[in-house]
Amino acid sequence: MKQYDLGILAGDGIGPEVTAEARKCVDAAGALFGFSAAWKEYPFGAEHYLKHREALPQSAFGDMGGHDAMLMGAIGDPRVPPGPLEQEILLALRFHFDQYVNLRPAQSFPGIPLPVALPEGRELDCVIVRENTEDLYMGIGAAGTGRFSRALEAARGLYSLRGAIEIDLPEGIDCGYSVGLMTRPAVERVTRYAFDLAKRRGENKVTVVSKANAVPQLYGFWDKVVAETAAREFPGMEYSILNVDAVCYLLARAPAGWGVMLCPNLFGDIVSDLMSALAGGLGLAAAGNIGDGLSMFEPVHGSAPTIAGTGRANPLAAILSGSMMLSHLGEHEAAAAVTNAVRAYLTSGRPLPVEQGGAATTVEVGDLVREFLH
Ligand code: NAD
Ligand code: IPM
Ligand code: MN
Repeated sequence: MKQYDLGILAGDGIGPEVTAEARKCVDAAGALFGFSAAWKEYPFGAEHYLKHREALPQSAFGDMGGHDAMLMGAIGDPRVPPGPLEQEILLALRFHFDQYVNLRPAQSFPGIPLPVALPEGRELDCVIVRENTEDLYMGIGAAGTGRFSRALEAARGLYSLRGAIEIDLPEGIDCGYSVGLMTRPAVERVTRYAFDLAKRRGENKVTVVSKANAVPQLYGFWDKVVAETAAREFPGMEYSILNVDAVCYLLARAPAGWGVMLCPNLFGDIVSDLMSALAGGLGLAAAGNIGDGLSMFEPVHGSAPTIAGTGRANPLAAILSGSMMLSHLGEHEAAAAVTNAVRAYLTSGRPLPVEQGGAATTVEVGDLVREFLH
């Protein structure tokens, strides 16, 4: 029997609750489709950090690199100031393993009420291809006062860079800054991924999300490299470049029919939460961080600390992330079975997750999905 070597980083807040259900679904699918999984659990997150003052040890990269894939919950806890922990764990892993695509399908489900009704008989079925290594997420920045300079340094799979920034402000004025940066090869590869995906979906058009009107140095570069790559490598395909503000407006008025949306890192983060609301809830939104090495699968949502421990967390996003992971491993039948089980459950008349107005707890939702898994 085929055995997969999988990592699981449950993380903070509702992360452990939802990943537990996802793991059970992956195991149950394995039992049905003839494979098993050996899981290695990683303890990293706020609790571990507060106890050991360690975010992510260097050794974790080596250990995780040996897995066939990983499942993640979420990182972030109100006891730790926002930023450093997310950067040192989640973003550090995305960058280290050069997971250059954050793939975020937005799929509506029959039986789930939507905030904006779709045309009769339509489902929402679009997918955000989010660049996952650059933009304002570079981690290059600082805060300071008066006159100060900082060395800057960043390393990615494609390159490492060094430099310095000197700021000179009048005495007593302090500031914070962060450098958004994109490189041609990183934009090219994510563009290639998005256009290939559109082709595989039988579509000949991609929506490119941008904001070159306000930030031409960064997003004008994005537009130019996307356009050049598309013209050179996908001459038969169309694209339209839209500003992210307009995209949010248009999405909220007419969410259906968008197909593949290619986004820079920050806009992809924001648009994916909006998209998830339009598709029925964050607790249904799955994602994968995809690279040529280790890929990691995790819900779009975060650790939702205010509902942690209450049983109100919807585990379907984590379960559907598990399905994406199975697909990535080549277990397409098992992946489809998990997705179909979610659909069958949601239309069965059985209690819905609390997020969708029902009374099923996190564990009950997981059990119900497995009841429909065959
Ligand atoms: P969040 O996604 O955790 O929560 C946003 C809202 O959605 C909250 O009202 C929450 O209760 C609700 N929600 C989220 N997931 C849900 C689920 N499965 N079922 C039902 N309701 C759900 O975003 P936030 O509040 O901005 O962030 C909380 C923490 O999570 C922060 O520390 C943030 O940095 C972190 N975060 C981590 C990740 C990640 O690790 N991938 C992603 C996003 C946010
Ligand atoms: C996500 C999260 C992360 C991001 C945060 C926690 C760094 O919001 O995965 O969507 O911005 O990528
Ligand atoms: Mn996000």
